[in-house]
Amino acid sequence: MKHVFKQGTNLDAPTLLLLHGTGGDENDLLPLGQRIAPEASVLSVRGNVLENGMPRFFRRLAEGVFDEEDLIFRTKELNDFLDQAALEYQFDRDNLVAVGYSNGANIAGSLLFHYADALKGAILYHPMVPRRGIPLPDLTGVPIFIGAGTNDPICSPQETEELSHLLKGAGASVALQWANYGHQLTAAEVNASAEWFRDVFDLG
Ligand code: MLT
Repeated sequence: MKHVFKQGTNLDAPTLLLLHGTGGDENDLLPLGQRIAPEASVLSVRGNVLENGMPRFFRRLAEGVFDEEDLIFRTKELNDFLDQAALEYQFDRDNLVAVGYSNGANIAGSLLFHYADALKGAILYHPMVPRRGIPLPDLTGVPIFIGAGTNDPICSPQETEELSHLLKGAGASVALQWANYGHQLTAAEVNASAEWFRDVFDLG
């Protein structure tokens, strides 16, 4: 997969896995990674699917309607890529925290829904429920930050609550941050997630 890797100065800090929204690329979220943990290594990946020229992490049939078969395939493809990248760049595969926005948050959610050890934690900005009706792996103690908008037209507050409920049901420890906005990423949620990250992963 197309990507950027930047080695950090603190090799004990989690490596940040940056996952862009629809139409973004591997450069989009680099400033966000800097904001959250400037000392951490960063692996920023570009989605392998194109929708009218816009990169995404999996196909959709319509807005908010995922192509489930492709989602499952692409989730495995990304998980396998993470295994390879950890070997190539020598970062700790077991200390990887996803930071995803919108479509990137949805593939990060799908990693959590399908693989017990894919992620050490996750920051999900405006995520949806990636799949319904499947048993989740044991996510005991996995810390997850969700940033959501009360007026998000793409991800309703009910869907945010449903996702939070499903993750908590699997044992994850979920911090939910609401803003009175829509689907956009706000400075307030970025700040809140950075504070949460530094606190949870003891970065002072
Ligand atoms: C998705 O397809 O993942 C969601 O609709 C979010 C987005 O617009 O990318």
